[in-house]
Amino acid sequence: MLKAICSKKNLEEHLYFKTVEDIIYSNEVQQLKQFQHHVSTTRFQHSLNVSYYNYLLCKKFKFNATAAARAGLLHDLFYYNRKEYVRKSGEKGHIARHPQVALKNATDLFKINQIEKDIILNHMWPFTLSMPKYKETYVIVLVDKYCAIMEFFAPYISKLKRKKNTLNKIKTATLVE
Ligand SMILES: [Fe+2]
Ligand SMILES: [Fe+2]
Repeated sequence: MLKAICSKKNLEEHLYFKTVEDIIYSNEVQQLKQFQHHVSTTRFQHSLNVSYYNYLLCKKFKFNATAAARAGLLHDLFYYNRKEYVRKSGEKGHIARHPQVALKNATDLFKINQIEKDIILNHMWPFTLSMPKYKETYVIVLVDKYCAIMEFFAPYISKLKRKKNTLNKIKTATLVE
């Protein structure tokens, strides 16, 4: 079942799915499951989170939700571990480089339109050299950060929830006695 962080919906049964169904099960996107991302998740799950919330926000504001969903899924399409990567001389740092790598991979594999191109290339704005050209790109700039924060704190939140549940169980058991 496909689920985004902080959502209980089965995304395969959601309208969102129609926008990405031709790319989400491709080997190249599925390979992202092999890479850790933001400490507690995989690059695939992060990309799915960004794609889904991009879609929801852009749909709400009547922006291009399809481009937002597709580019969201492809915005981190690179196949190396950030910490293990040895930078070649003259190469830019990870923050500026990985959107270019993701765009090259995405355009080699799929048909990408101008909006999707801009979303992928400038999702790290203002750390990129160029300015975003489309409003959908500003959406991913925010959504990407939001998802990164949620992914980082997710293990702590579930730990707190487990503690709360245990305390509630103890409380109920004590009251019954
Ligand atoms: Fe990124
Ligand atoms: Fe990202």
